Amino acid sequence: MDNPFKKIITVFPDKSDSYNIYIGRNVYTNLPSLLREQKVNSQIAVISVPPVSRLYMQRVRDLFDSKWQVFTRDVNDGEISKSMRVAQDLYTWLIENRFERSSTIIALGGGVVGDLAGFVAATYLRGIHLVHLPTSLLAQVDSSIGGKVGINHTLGKNLIGAFYQPKFVLTDTSVLSTLDDTEYLCGMGEVIKYGILSNNNFFQFLEENIDFILEREPELQDQIVQHCINQKAEIVSQDTYETGIRSSLNLGHSFGHALETYMLYKGLKHGQAVMLGIMCAVHASRIKRLISEGAERRITGLIKRIPVRLPERLNDRTIKDLLEIMKRDKKVAGGKINLIGIEDIGSVRKIEVTEQILQEAFYMLNDFTEG
Ligand SMILES: NC(=O)c1ccc[n+]([C@@H]2O[C@H](COP(=O)([O-])OP(=O)(O)OC[C@H]3O[C@@H](n4cnc5c(N)ncnc54)[C@H](O)[C@@H]3O)[C@@H](O)[C@H]2O)c1
Ligand SMILES: [Zn+2]
Repeated sequence: MDNPFKKIITVFPDKSDSYNIYIGRNVYTNLPSLLREQKVNSQIAVISVPPVSRLYMQRVRDLFDSKWQVFTRDVNDGEISKSMRVAQDLYTWLIENRFERSSTIIALGGGVVGDLAGFVAATYLRGIHLVHLPTSLLAQVDSSIGGKVGINHTLGKNLIGAFYQPKFVLTDTSVLSTLDDTEYLCGMGEVIKYGILSNNNFFQFLEENIDFILEREPELQDQIVQHCINQKAEIVSQDTYETGIRSSLNLGHSFGHALETYMLYKGLKHGQAVMLGIMCAVHASRIKRLISEGAERRITGLIKRIPVRLPERLNDRTIKDLLEIMKRDKKVAGGKINLIGIEDIGSVRKIEVTEQILQEAFYMLNDFTEG
């Protein structure tokens, strides 16, 4: 059979089986045959959210003949569904439908569905098969790779979770055409992160093509997706449990999580918060005299060309709240706050910062306020 995919990238996690990420356009038709290659039974639960399900659920369902038992379920759209309550509803549904160890959960959606459905797959019967069909840019380039699954706690994001690897990931870049512009920009937050982490001219590629990328030129978009998947696959294959190099993927995320939590998962979305978080990391790295002048100029220049803005100005009070949230974050160790600092494009490292530095970094974000 001809290979229907533009690219197949393999991830090699420590202590688990390797798995493939199949990337291409209009490739969902391969889902049943890819499943048959795995040792799964005929029982499948496809979990999604209404905006995605409306567009793609029927298409996915129609791929399966009567030999399969396909169950489908939507959870509410948005971060709010990454909760114990929703996970509990899904467990009930799986138990009622007699799902077994060799049954499969398919996550059809963005990072929210992937994290939630992945968490349920990891914990139901101590783990059933999981397949990701990531549909947002963020999910395709980031959350569907590397096995982190989880839900939120009211005291913070992603505090409950597991490392749980999928059987495979099927990434259809053609579905990105229905993603709205804001969500596309969110994905760009992670893409820029990869640009900063990458030492092979990917940042330059982004600088040169940013206008076309923002216009969502399909060929460029596919190149970006492939590049980022490759980069993430390499990193998580080297460091599955985030004891070393994988933590570089948290660039911009400590600040980003604080902004996201502060805005109560509403005003600012993950990828946008990450982009602003990267700006905070640039500021903190400058205060620490770590970042080269060139890198600071280029990163700030690129992010300024992307229409991402803080919904409201930050003042002393807001910043105090943001610091409180950050201190609760899991990356706080022994009262010191560890962050990923930037030395140069392609070179980042862990740094320890004081509250004073965090405060100043947040203040500087006011350059990125709306209006
Ligand atoms: N597990 C990880 O390693 C990891 C990494 C990064 C982020 N995350 C998590 O991912 C989540 C964010 O993911 P996200 O940005 O994909 O958010 P999301 O899942 O909420 O999706 C964003 C929006 O786009 C819609 N959508 C998705 N695909 C679509 C399509 N093809 N067409 C039309 N609409 C579509 C969704 O319905 C939703 O409204 C956060 O919870 C974050 O914590 C996890
Ligand atoms: Zn992220």
